[in-house]
Amino acid sequence: MLYILMYVVQVILLIVFLVVIILFILWSIGNIKNKVPFVAASNAVLKDIDKALDIKDDSVVYDLGCGDGRVLLYLSHFHPKAKYIGVENSAFPILLARFGSFLNKKNTGNKVEIINKDFFEQDLSNATHIFTYLYPNIMDDLFPKFREELKPETKLVSLAFKFSGKEPISEIDLKRSKYKLGRKLFVYQF
Ligand SMILES: C[S@@+](CC[C@H](N)C(=O)[O-])C[C@H]1O[C@@H](n2cnc3c(N)ncnc32)[C@H](O)[C@@H]1O
Repeated sequence: MLYILMYVVQVILLIVFLVVIILFILWSIGNIKNKVPFVAASNAVLKDIDKALDIKDDSVVYDLGCGDGRVLLYLSHFHPKAKYIGVENSAFPILLARFGSFLNKKNTGNKVEIINKDFFEQDLSNATHIFTYLYPNIMDDLFPKFREELKPETKLVSLAFKFSGKEPISEIDLKRSKYKLGRKLFVYQF
């Protein structure tokens, strides 16, 4: 009996080990492929992101490089009538985001759409709000696309990083320790 129990425990540990290795490989591949790694926004700043975005019932909100989808999932709880689209091209965060979206739909009926795509290829012409947590050079690479595709008045909130050639309409200090990532929000109007 003890042998069987030990065998079962060993098999379970092996499966857990293999799953962790597979997830680690998926995470590493995503980080190598993209210039921006998967680092999720801190839960401590989600409330500030919500306030800065100022979402309405008819808003269409994108998170470009949505990671595990936590920002959109959080927003959809407080503004259930708006539409939420996360664009992500890395396998590990997509898995997490789709699972979160599935649970969210089960619990609240709100669907957060997660698109597996390079955000440079996503049409953004229906966006009213955009959230980003990327890198300064990627912000600048995306800038011409935003200029071309975004409707006038589209609001963009960037955690931590600015455009080099456009001034934000406001900067919000999140009052986080200097050792933490994501200490400011930059709010832009296109
Ligand atoms: C710093 S994380 C931010 C995650 C999420 N927005 C958040 O704040 O929690 C940046 C994400 O962008 C994704 N990413 C980077 N380049 C991308 C691209 N060209 N297309 C789609 N996603 C991309 C990465 O895989 C990563 O998950």
